[in-house]
Amino acid sequence: MKTRAIYPGSFDPLTLGHLDIIERSSKMFPELIVAVLRNRAKDPVFSVEERVEMIRKLTEHNKRVHVDSFDGLLMDYADSVNAGVIVRGLRAVTDFEYELQIAQMNHTINEKVDTIFLTTSLEYAYLSSTIVKEVASYGGDISKFVPKLVEEKCLEKFGGRKEG
Ligand code: PNS
Repeated sequence: MKTRAIYPGSFDPLTLGHLDIIERSSKMFPELIVAVLRNRAKDPVFSVEERVEMIRKLTEHNKRVHVDSFDGLLMDYADSVNAGVIVRGLRAVTDFEYELQIAQMNHTINEKVDTIFLTTSLEYAYLSSTIVKEVASYGGDISKFVPKLVEEKCLEKFGGRKEG
């Protein structure tokens, strides 16, 4: 497929589930832009710059992957980078309704851009950045959920397991 694709998200932080979608979808397109949303409404643990830097380090071996950040409407960003496809991961049927609504809204805003869904690999079906942050905030072990680099950065933010 000769189209530039975007994998957008908050990635606060990136999980092994996200990384799995990046690796798989990057094989489908000549270029995949992982685009981190600058969302003023959310209160992130990691700054956009920290998230972009982490994702860059974790994907530097993959020459098809580029990492960027964006603000405003995803469909405007897609135009600005001349991308024709949005990639989103679907973990379970609970994701579907929301993702379908967003994809249809986006297609109505910009009909040049299509959304494709990749089903998350089974071992990551339960994973979310929110749950990872919850476990990390109580000092739990997140090594099965995130890449080593992200685990280290989470430890810096949240500290290790609190004794007593
Ligand atoms: O990882 P997330 O938080 O599920 O990612 C959501 C994201 C970034 C894909 C979505 O919030 C988005 O595209 N936001 C940009 C604003 C926008 O275009 N909204 C219109 C969709 S109706």
